[in-house]
Amino acid sequence: MRKFLFALLALGCVATQAHAAESANVAAGKLVYLHQCSDCHSNQPHMDRFGPTLAGVYGRMAGTAPLHRYSKAMKSAHIRWDANTLNGFLKDPRAYIHGTIMPYRGLESATARADVIAYLQSISPKS
Ligand code: HEC
Repeated sequence: MRKFLFALLALGCVATQAHAAESANVAAGKLVYLHQCSDCHSNQPHMDRFGPTLAGVYGRMAGTAPLHRYSKAMKSAHIRWDANTLNGFLKDPRAYIHGTIMPYRGLESATARADVIAYLQSISPKS
């Protein structure tokens, strides 16, 4: 019985830790979003700012948010936003999509990129 209880306890700890790491990512990513992206991008569906809404962006084809007027480059990029493409774009937007008009020089920190991508996924329910 003692052994069984101990095993249960250990399992509980592992599960809690994994959960904490996950939400820390999203929470840190939300801060990155608030500081570096929200001036131009809403996190609400159907809210266009200077940039397209980022609600639902994860899993969406580039250049397809209704309401937004994109550059030709973004409309003809023909890529789907996932962890890989978002990472490439956010690292160096203009090198990743030549001719994009997103006036942002990129997020150098790989951790900040991973966090903000986790946040974008969390506001994209269909992905
Ligand atoms: C100064 C304004 C500005 C900032 C800051 C900015 N963006 Fe953008 N972003 C834009 C504009 C404008 C576009 C549309 C670009 C185009 O049409 O070429 C865009 C496009 C995008 C796209 C493509 C969306 C789609 O629907 O295809 C993503 C993803 C994106 N931005 C993410 C981010 C993230 C994440 C940040 C913060 C780390 C950020 N942007 C910071 C203005 C900005």
